[in-house]
Amino acid sequence: MISVLFPLLFGYVLSLPDCPQKCLCTPSLMDCRRANLYEVPHGIAQKTETLILNDNHLTLISPRVFQHLLNLTFLGLANNKLSLQNDSFDNIAENRLGLLDSTIFSSLEKLTYLDLSNNRLKMFAPMFVGLSKLDTLMLAGNHLSTIPQGVFDPIPNLKILVLSHNEINHLPEGLFDNLKSLNDLLLDYNNFTEISHAIFTTLHNLEHFSISKNRIQNIPLLLFAGRFTLRKLDLSSNLLSELPSDFPSGLEQLEVLNLSANCIGNVPKNLFVNNTKLEFLHLDKTCLQTPPIFSGLQNLIELTVCCNGIKILPKTFTDNMANLELLDLSLNNIREIEDDAFKMNHNITKVILTGNPVCTTEQFMHYSFKGLDCSSKN
Ligand SMILES: *[C@@H]1O[C@H](CO)[C@@H](O)[C@H](O)[C@H]1NC(C)=O
Ligand SMILES: *[C@@H]1O[C@H](CO)[C@@H](O)[C@H](O)[C@H]1NC(C)=O
Ligand SMILES: *[C@@H]1O[C@H](CO)[C@@H](O)[C@H](O)[C@H]1NC(C)=O
Ligand SMILES: *[C@@H]1O[C@H](CO)[C@@H](O)[C@H](O)[C@H]1NC(C)=O
Ligand SMILES: *[C@@H]1O[C@H](CO)[C@@H](O)[C@H](O)[C@H]1NC(C)=O
Ligand SMILES: *[C@@H]1O[C@H](CO)[C@@H](O)[C@H](O)[C@H]1NC(C)=O
Repeated sequence: MISVLFPLLFGYVLSLPDCPQKCLCTPSLMDCRRANLYEVPHGIAQKTETLILNDNHLTLISPRVFQHLLNLTFLGLANNKLSLQNDSFDNIAENRLGLLDSTIFSSLEKLTYLDLSNNRLKMFAPMFVGLSKLDTLMLAGNHLSTIPQGVFDPIPNLKILVLSHNEINHLPEGLFDNLKSLNDLLLDYNNFTEISHAIFTTLHNLEHFSISKNRIQNIPLLLFAGRFTLRKLDLSSNLLSELPSDFPSGLEQLEVLNLSANCIGNVPKNLFVNNTKLEFLHLDKTCLQTPPIFSGLQNLIELTVCCNGIKILPKTFTDNMANLELLDLSLNNIREIEDDAFKMNHNITKVILTGNPVCTTEQFMHYSFKGLDCSSKN
C-alpha cells in the first residue's frame, strides 16, 4: 500500500509551509519516512488522512500531538524506538497517566490502519480506546511477552492483527472475545508452546491463522472443529511430532496448509479426506519416509514434500489429485519413478526431482513425461 502511494503522489507534491524537510506533503498526506526525525513534527495539517512516520528515531509521543487529526485514517509509526510504556510514568500521578492513555490515539475515530511494528512498546489495556474503526493493527517486533487482558476490546472492527516477532507464550483468556470480525491473526516467531482452544472460541470469521516459528509440540484434539471459515493455516517450523487424526476435520474451507519443518513422520492417509478445497499443501522437512496415498485433495494444485527421506514413491501417489500442477519432491532419496506415474494428473506441468538419485539414471533421460525437472535449484 505504501509503495503504491509513493509514485502516485509524486506528480503533484506540494511544498506546504508546514511540511518538514525530507517529508512529502499533500493536503491530506504527510509522508516522513526516513526523515531523520527525533520527534513527531508539530503542526501536522488538520486535514491529514495519511501520516507516515516510519523509519525514524521517535522515542516518545507527547499526549496531544495527534489530537486534532480527526480525519486520520492511516498512521504508520513502524521502525522507531517508541516505548509508550506504563513504566515510564510510574511516578506520575494517576490522572496524568490517564491523560496519556486516553489521548495518544483516542481522538482518531476514523483511523483504520495503525502500524506500530518494530518499536519497544509495552501494551497497556486502554491504549486503543476510541479506535472503533480500526481494521488493521500491526504490533510485530516489539519484544512483547505479555498482552494485557481487554486491550483489544475497544477495537471490535479489527480484521487484521499482527503480533509476529515477539516473545509471547501466553494469551489471556478472552483476549479476542470482542474481535468478531477478525480475519487474519498472525502469531509467527513467538514463544508459544501450545495453542489453546480459548484462542478460537469467538473468532468466527477467522480466515488466516499463522503460528509458524514457535515451539508448539502438539495440537489439542478438536482444536479446529467448527472453524469452517479458515482458509489459510500455517503451523510450519514448530515441534509437532504427530497430528491428531481429526486435526483438519473442521476446516472444510481450507485452501492453504503449511506443516513444513515439523518432524511428523507419519501422516495418516485419510487425514485430508474432508479438506476438499485444499489447493496448496506443504509437507517439506516433515521426516516423511513413505508418503501415503492420500484421499481427499482432489483440488490440490501444489504439493511440496521436499527434504524428506522418501525412497519409494508409490505409483499411485498422486492419482487422487486430479488438479495437481506442481509437485516438489526435491532432496529426497528417490531412485525410480514408475513409467505411468502422473498419468492421472492432466494439469501437471512440473515435478521437481532435484537432489534425488533418479536424476542420474538412464531411465530419467528417456522418461516420456517432460515435466520432470532435475535442474539444480537457485
Ligand atoms: C474531514 O473530512 C470531512 C469529510 O470528508 C470534511 O468535510 C472535513 O472538512 C474534514 N476535516 C478537516 C479538518 O479537514
Ligand atoms: C499502569 O500503571 C498503573 C499505575 O502505576 C497501574 O495501576 C496499572 O496496573 C499499570 N498497567 C499496566 C498494564 O501495567
Ligand atoms: C523467548 O524465546 C527466546 C529464544 O528462545 C528467549 O531468549 C526469550 O527469553 C524467551 N522470552 C520469554 C518471555 O520467554
Ligand atoms: C512453509 O513453511 C516453511 C517453514 O516455515 C517456509 O519456509 C515456507 O516458505 C512456507 N511455505 C509457504 C508457501 O508459505
Ligand atoms: C470426515 O467427515 C465425516 C463426515 O462428517 C466424518 O465422519 C469423518 O470423521 C471425517 N474424517 C476426518 C478424517 O476428519
Ligand atoms: C485443469 O486446468 C483447467 C484450466 O485451468 C481446469 O479447467 C480444469 O478443471 C483442471 N483440471 C483437470 C482435471 O483438468
